[in-house]
Amino acid sequence: MRSPWFLAFLSLGLVTAEDGRNAWLRYAQLPDNVLRHARVPKSIIALNSTETSPVFTAGLELQKGIRGVTGKTPDLTHEGYNNRNGSGSIVVGTVEAYTEAGGASQIPELDEDGFWFSTEGDNVEIVGQNERGALYGAFEYLSMIAQGNFTGVAYATNPSAPIRWVNQWDNLDGTIERGYAGLSIFFENNVTVSNLTRVTEYARLLSSIRINGIVINNVNANPILLTPENLAGLGNIADAMRPWGVKVGISLNFASPQDFGGLDTFDPLDQSVIAWWADITKKVYEKVPDMAGYLIKASSEGQPGPLTYNRTLADGANLFARAVQPYGGIVMFRAFVYDHTIAYDNWYNDRANAAVDFFRDLDADFDDNVVVQIKYGPIDFQVREAPSPLFAHLRHTATAMELQVAQEYLGQQCHLVYLPPLWRTVLDFDLRVDGQQSIIGADILTGKTFNKKLSGYAGVVNVGRNATWLGSHLAMSNLYAFGRLAWDPAADSAAMLRDWTRLTFGPSDDEAVLNTIESMSMASWPAYENYTGNLGVQTLTDITGPHYGPNPQSQDHNGWGQWTRADGEGIGMDRTVRNGTANAGQYPAEVAAVFEDVAATPDDLLLWFHHVPYTHRLRGGEGPTVIQHFYDAHYAGAETVATFPAQWAALRGKIDAQRYEEVLFRLVYQAGHAIVWRDAISEFYLNMSGIADERGRVGRPHPWRVEAEDMELDGYRVTAVTPFEAASGLRIVQTVDNSTAARVRARLRQFPDGVYDVAVAYYDLYEGRARYELFLNDRSLGAWVGDLEDRLGYTLTRGIDGHSATRVTFRDVQIRKGDVLRIQTLPDGRETAPLDYVAVLPRGVVD
Ligand code: GCU
Repeated sequence: MRSPWFLAFLSLGLVTAEDGRNAWLRYAQLPDNVLRHARVPKSIIALNSTETSPVFTAGLELQKGIRGVTGKTPDLTHEGYNNRNGSGSIVVGTVEAYTEAGGASQIPELDEDGFWFSTEGDNVEIVGQNERGALYGAFEYLSMIAQGNFTGVAYATNPSAPIRWVNQWDNLDGTIERGYAGLSIFFENNVTVSNLTRVTEYARLLSSIRINGIVINNVNANPILLTPENLAGLGNIADAMRPWGVKVGISLNFASPQDFGGLDTFDPLDQSVIAWWADITKKVYEKVPDMAGYLIKASSEGQPGPLTYNRTLADGANLFARAVQPYGGIVMFRAFVYDHTIAYDNWYNDRANAAVDFFRDLDADFDDNVVVQIKYGPIDFQVREAPSPLFAHLRHTATAMELQVAQEYLGQQCHLVYLPPLWRTVLDFDLRVDGQQSIIGADILTGKTFNKKLSGYAGVVNVGRNATWLGSHLAMSNLYAFGRLAWDPAADSAAMLRDWTRLTFGPSDDEAVLNTIESMSMASWPAYENYTGNLGVQTLTDITGPHYGPNPQSQDHNGWGQWTRADGEGIGMDRTVRNGTANAGQYPAEVAAVFEDVAATPDDLLLWFHHVPYTHRLRGGEGPTVIQHFYDAHYAGAETVATFPAQWAALRGKIDAQRYEEVLFRLVYQAGHAIVWRDAISEFYLNMSGIADERGRVGRPHPWRVEAEDMELDGYRVTAVTPFEAASGLRIVQTVDNSTAARVRARLRQFPDGVYDVAVAYYDLYEGRARYELFLNDRSLGAWVGDLEDRLGYTLTRGIDGHSATRVTFRDVQIRKGDVLRIQTLPDGRETAPLDYVAVLPRGVVD
């Protein structure tokens, strides 16, 4: 019996299995031919002997890294800089300690967390502006040598911005909002965890990418974080992360004084409320003297906030700012404030306007230690958005950009989507404030444009207990690149990826590994955009549900405002000032003029700013129609990711067995789910527009498919699904009851004799592990179980829909005209072994 492709767990016996836990900090030993020419210092002098200091950590990490990479353990001391012998040593410390120890090199002026670094000559010198900077320098050196780079370099580097934080959306009960990689490493059963091993390991990863702060609990915050027991736990977490230079902060629930503190109000101007927060803050700082700050989601998506009392958002933010001010803390106040009950039938309503509408007039009102944290686009982490115009409005208030490493709308880490190219569309955007260059990453978030001291980045990250941290080995490149971009928003997407790949899959210097991961990753976001929502229409997922599979009809006719305004004639949000929601007018004049004009707006953002007929032609009238582009793009996107499994499979033997198989499994899954997306979206807009696909693919019977509803059924019945477009041919079959074996059967008369891949499309629900076996005549081609709930981390559903739709493929099956295909199934609980179709695919056909 043959297993499906993705179940073929073979031991390749190449390298010892790796589970991903060390991520890009594996320090795999370099091959002899590289080491032979390497100059590696034999000793390390870390200029601080206090065990909790990041410089002390740097010493240990250097020792560990060099041992890993070279197989030789250098000596580690904390003094003796002046007695260095000629055999080469590494000195690591702050500018102050280095100078005191008699350091010879002239260190240029450094910004906070910056470092100076030299590998020229026999010695390596790593000098940080502060302890954290020194540790970053140590990681820089280790990253170089782990990639086999022993060249002599000397340079200083400084961060683009002081705030480089991650936000965890971890709940106290141990679940993670938008988490796809297991339970929280911070909390369980409403308390902080006692075993901090993973927390410490995570701090090490964050430190290596120069992240200096972490908010450990969900923005939808539970006040029980403030119990004495949990504050003590918070102190322990901070203690574990401090040696890595990562400061800990927390999200607060605005209504805590009432819901948790027993007051009868949470009005931010009420004296008892102010006193309550001052007292809590004192208790927090008793446990965490260097607490990074508070993160506040207020008056948003049903969360309590100052608007409850007709106070302004600035009143709300300043309440906390004044509480933390004496301790040097800051408040990250989220700009994600909008009304999720706006009326759809008002053409002029627009959720995208909310942030500027709420914050613009408050620019003078925020205290200096408030940072307004703004999502990259005005809606919500969509596959493409125009940049948030709020970055152009807050001239006096500090701002930070919120990015999402968690792939909430972007395939939930079950689809490979390398995000830096998407992030760069926003970071590189020139807002032209006052007609001057104002690139969001280079000018606004560095503080240059408005002459600000505080600014930076917050990345929403959903690491969990899964060994791979994010559930997917390849998704880790997004976390790595987030840190790199926060340090340098102009960092090159492909170059970061190559570093990450060498560190994650090295020491092989095999170009095939580098090129394959680069080719797949760089193609992944454009492909995902193609098959999920192009031309700026947003990710056409189920926006009121799991945000995972296709469900375009969920976008409109509700109060959430993620609208496409698709109807029988046209599609897109009219955000013009002239005729629409006036959102284009929220941008500075030069940019507004571009977005106002349908001809000037880039096609990528066409439907973000304009409502056009389906027959509107792209590329200034020279290109295909919008509807034809929809069809073509969805087909092209699915075709691109269909190449991923074979690209990856060509690396067999070059990647250790466990990671090879785990990555392959996800890529095969993605290729199948991309077809689910392609078909659902194409079908939906064909139905909506009534305009046929010029290339005849959409809405016609698929030439290589046998629909389950057309097969001979035994123990099965034909049913519809919701949404209708989540089923090929609009129908599926499910077993009549939920415990009796059943089968479907079809005689294959329509296909010429030949070798085919056979794909079975079915639905994998959670709460059930149905069994399936596919036979050709009476020969078993393989068996599988509907157990994706155990293998993938996307938000699971109980429904037969675009989230649960999936495929399994059996390759290279010899088929003769008249052969009989049979699928034998055993339903399990709610999983009624639902089947959609079987595709019999000649080589090269993607369907
Ligand atoms: C999205 C996400 C929510 C989250 C919210 C936020 O809407 O789906 O889970 O709470 O953003 O950023 O606050």
